[in-house]
Amino acid sequence: MIELKNIDVTFKEKKQEIAAVREVNLTIEDGDVYGIVGYSGAGKSTLVRVINLLQRPTNGEVLINQVNLTKLNQKELRQARKKIGMIFQHFNLMQARTIFDNVDFSLRYSKLNKQERQAKVTQLLELVGIADKAQAYPSQLSGGQKQRVAIARALANDPEILLCDEATSALDPKTTLQILELLKKLNKELGLTIVLITHEMQVVKEICNKVAVMEAGLIIEKGSAIDVFSAPQEPLTKDFIRTATHVDQALATILEHPKFSALQPNEWLVELAYVGDETNEPLIASLYSRYQVSTNILYGNVEIIQETPLGSLIVTLQGGLQQRQQALNYLAEQGVRTQVLKKENVAATNVYVLEGSNQR
Ligand SMILES: Nc1ncnc2c1ncn2[C@@H]1O[C@H](COP(=O)(O)OP(=O)(O)OP(=O)(O)O)[C@@H](O)[C@H]1O
Ligand SMILES: [Mg+2]
Repeated sequence: MIELKNIDVTFKEKKQEIAAVREVNLTIEDGDVYGIVGYSGAGKSTLVRVINLLQRPTNGEVLINQVNLTKLNQKELRQARKKIGMIFQHFNLMQARTIFDNVDFSLRYSKLNKQERQAKVTQLLELVGIADKAQAYPSQLSGGQKQRVAIARALANDPEILLCDEATSALDPKTTLQILELLKKLNKELGLTIVLITHEMQVVKEICNKVAVMEAGLIIEKGSAIDVFSAPQEPLTKDFIRTATHVDQALATILEHPKFSALQPNEWLVELAYVGDETNEPLIASLYSRYQVSTNILYGNVEIIQETPLGSLIVTLQGGLQQRQQALNYLAEQGVRTQVLKKENVAATNVYVLEGSNQR
C-alpha cells in the first residue's frame, strides 16, 4: 500500500515559489491500477516522483507498506526503491546497448550469477513479448517495442509497484491499447500495483480501477473509476470525461445542425447518463405516457468501465414546461443523471451547460 500524507512540493526559482503539489493525500491499495489525470503543469510528474522520493516533498510523508520512506537512510532507500519500477514517455533506453543489455543492466546489483541473470532477462523479454529482439538496438525498434523493453527493465528487480509517467503519450492509439493490455496483464498476473499518469481520460478508461484528477497541484477529485465516470463532480473532471467518451464531439455536431441550433419553443436538449446494463429505452418511452413528453434520441453511447456499462444519451424532450421538468425529475429518481444542455430560444453560442442537476 502506498500512502501519501499531506504532500507539498514547492520549487524555489529566483525568489519565486512554485507550488507544484499541494496538500495531497492519497492511498493506493495493493493491486490498484490508479490513474492520475490532469493537464500539463498540474503537478502529476512531480507527485509520482515523490512516491519513490526522486523528488523529496517539502512537507508530508510517503509510506510504502507502512514504512516511512522519508525517514530512511541512503542504503535503506536504495533497497526500498528496488520495489518500485518506473517507465516514461520517451522510454529512456541506452542507445549503445542491445535490448538484452538494457534489461540486464538493471540486474547489476542483484545477487544472481551470470547464468541466472541471462535466464531472468530472457524470461522478462518473453513476458513483455519482445524476446525476438534481444540482440537488436533501441534505434531498430518501434515506439511500442521500446516501451516493452522499458517495462521489462522496470520489472527486473521484481517490483511491487510500477510508476508510469505518460507511458503511452508518444504512441499511436493502437499501440497505446497494446501497451495498456500488457500493463493490465502484469497487474493481473504479477499482482503489480500500477500508478499511471496521463492527460488522457481514455487511458484511465481502459485500465484504471481508481482515478484522481489534478489541477494546479491539488487533487480536486478522486474515487473509483466507475464513480468518477458515472458522476463526475468537478467541471474539469466532466471536461476530461466528455473528451474521452466523445460526447463533446457528438454535441458539437448536433449543435451545428440547423434544427438544433434553434430548438422548438417547447423543446430542450438534454444529456442523460446512466450506470448498469438495464436499457433505458422503456424508461424513455414511458415519458410520453406519464408526462406527454416526447423524446428524440440524437446520440447514444455505451462505455464499459471496469466491466460496468455506462450509457450516455443526447436527446430532445418536447412537451409542456412543467411536464419536461417532471420528466427530468422522474428520470433522476430512476438513477439517470440529467443535464439540460440547451433550452428553447437560446442562441447556439451560449450553449453547453445551462443548468445541471446532478442526482444519480
Ligand atoms: N525541478 C523543477 N524546478 C522548478 N519547477 C518545476 C520543477 N519541476 C516541475 N516544476 C513546475 O511544477 C509544476 C508542475 O510540473 P509537473 O512536471 O509535475 O507537471 P505535469 O502535470 O507532470 O505536466 P506535464 O503533463 O506537462 O508533464 C509546473 O509549473 C512546473 O513548471
Ligand atoms: Mg509530467
